[in-house]
Amino acid sequence: MITRRALLKSALIGSGSASLFPRTLLAAAASPTHLMQAFIQGLPKAELHLHIEGTLEPDMKFRMAKRNGLRLPYRSVEEMRASYQRIHDLQSFLEVYYEGTAVLKTEQDFYELTLAYLKKAASQNILYVEMFFDPQQHMRNGIAFETVIKGLTRGQKDGQKLWGIDSQLIMCFLRELTADSAMQTLEAALPYKEYLVGVGLDSDEKDNPPNKFSAVFKRAREEGLRVTVHCDLNQKDIHEHIRQAVEQLQVDRIDHGGNVIDSPELIKLVKDNGLYLTVCPGSSGTSIQDGKPVDVVRTMLNAGLNVTLNSDDPAYMSGNYLNETFINAQKRSQLSAVELVSLARNAFEASWISDHQKARYLTKLDTYANQWLPKMA
Ligand code: HPA
Ligand code: ZN
Repeated sequence: MITRRALLKSALIGSGSASLFPRTLLAAAASPTHLMQAFIQGLPKAELHLHIEGTLEPDMKFRMAKRNGLRLPYRSVEEMRASYQRIHDLQSFLEVYYEGTAVLKTEQDFYELTLAYLKKAASQNILYVEMFFDPQQHMRNGIAFETVIKGLTRGQKDGQKLWGIDSQLIMCFLRELTADSAMQTLEAALPYKEYLVGVGLDSDEKDNPPNKFSAVFKRAREEGLRVTVHCDLNQKDIHEHIRQAVEQLQVDRIDHGGNVIDSPELIKLVKDNGLYLTVCPGSSGTSIQDGKPVDVVRTMLNAGLNVTLNSDDPAYMSGNYLNETFINAQKRSQLSAVELVSLARNAFEASWISDHQKARYLTKLDTYANQWLPKMA
């Protein structure tokens, strides 16, 4: 029989991947809260909504700025972190986020960024990641597409070699730029198509509806790429944007999508199309209905929607990577261990991978669930 203590140990020490938890913590892990945290730490997970540029931690930003001869408008890591307090909506977030990307100049920078993230992800028992990147932002910073893609893919390769973590790339278009610019970016990316699993749409949603990109997304689909679209929370015209994403752009998935729960028609549309939603509770976990806050994850689960939990831009969100995201969501949305397993399962089901790879991950998840769930009841 597997004891509660043995389960805690296997989760905290990690199963093969680097552990962040010293053995001394084991003794303290006897309370229900610690048990839940240990369960989440060990849970085999997939991350489907992660902007690699959003993992650029302040200390790395300083190191890269120095190496690239750039001066940052902050004297210390603490001062930089404090500046993040000005983030209060999507637009103010994007200002801070794009300011950060200016330090990424060389292939080595993109490589180190990717490798650091994958190391962290592997330490949290994430088996598989689909990472967004924003080439137009780097190109307007004067960096060639090739530089970006070479650095990212070298990081992915070494991440897989060092920690066994699998990953794929989703290229995002910046929606405040023109459709022509998006099409040119797609053309520039096509010689590297083998390194991309799909395309997405992110950045400033206000007055930039999915329809604006119909031709680009059609072309991307014709090229065999998967497609997804950010439908950020509580944006202007958000219900219409969700509808367009599904009906016009024919998305394979929806990023965020929290406002789906406002409308029975949208819930039906998303369900009828078998779509999964990559919710990021840290940034899009509370919708407002009739002036009252509504918990997106709980409401989606109760409505039978296919929801997944994701971290979005952890370096800008109090350092909340996927474990912390699960732990916070568990408390906030009152998630049972069974629901946490089904959220993890949804992410593997929603992944853009072969059936064989999917089955391999799901077997690991089932084995873990079979060991743990009896103890968590
Ligand atoms: N929404 C829109 N644009 C973004 C995001 C997001 O969550 N993260 C990085 N760019
Ligand atoms: Zn996002």
